Amino acid sequence: MTRHAAEEAATTADRQFDRLTLSQRGQHLVLLVACVVLVITGLPVLFHGGSMGEATVKLLGGASVRASLHRGGAIVLMGLCTWHLLYVMLSRRAHDDFLRVLPRVQDLREVRQAMRMYVGLATQGPRFGHFSYVEKLQYWAVGLGCGMMILSGLAMWLHDQVMLTLPKIWLDVAWIVHGRGAVFGFLAIIVWHLYNVHLRPGVFPMSTVWLTGKISEQQMRADHALEYEAITGAPPSDTATGTTAPTGPQASEGGGAP
Ligand code: HEM
Repeated sequence: MTRHAAEEAATTADRQFDRLTLSQRGQHLVLLVACVVLVITGLPVLFHGGSMGEATVKLLGGASVRASLHRGGAIVLMGLCTWHLLYVMLSRRAHDDFLRVLPRVQDLREVRQAMRMYVGLATQGPRFGHFSYVEKLQYWAVGLGCGMMILSGLAMWLHDQVMLTLPKIWLDVAWIVHGRGAVFGFLAIIVWHLYNVHLRPGVFPMSTVWLTGKISEQQMRADHALEYEAITGAPPSDTATGTTAPTGPQASEGGGAP
């Protein structure tokens, strides 16, 4: 490598783009902690007959401590959702991000191109803008999942009041939705989200965007080629192929304010 090429590579490697604001990183961290607490304190109820369920309850300090911890986690999750809604409504940056995460017809084209690449009909995958279809799916899955878990959880928590106003079948539905939703959400996080941000080639052992809020130029070119071109004015041929699977929800250069 010539000296000039080596210097250029070093500059490129150092260049960082703002992706997640401080508030977004804070929300992600609270979500992570709340979900871990809710899963650990909720799943033993679902699998109460098994030895792992019993051992977990014992480790947590008994049935009533487990129940209090689950309700504590639920209050944190509800607080987080309120924080997120206010953030989207009151912060200009969050509002803009929200508009960009809305589904569009373009997402279907991206899915089609990705599928073509996966089955060998195309050599290149789709090139993404600020949010890829995978990031959008993750955002909406978390949003709808939280809404579903909160509604069904509140119904079980306030079961006396629910029984006074609605037929019992609604409580049964809430109970089934809550239990199945917990297993589904748990598996989705372990299998899908963790693969995308930890194990995927290119980001292993971990994407640090959720900690630093910054994304490297290399990752920007690979995962958000269209946005990279729009920000830097780089010609399309100068950016990466976009054949890597995208990472989690992130944001663009210039917007670091919470
Ligand atoms: C990621 C979020 C959550 C997960 C993974 C989760 C998980 C679970 C699981 C697996 C059960 C056992 C269900 C069964 O017996 O079929 C449960 C029970 C319960 N959950 Fe959740 N939950 C979550 C959020 C919430 C929220 C937001 C609330 C309240 C607003 C809540 C309130 C309850 C209540 C009241 C029960 C009944 C058992 C108990 O007293 O702990 N949960 N949860």
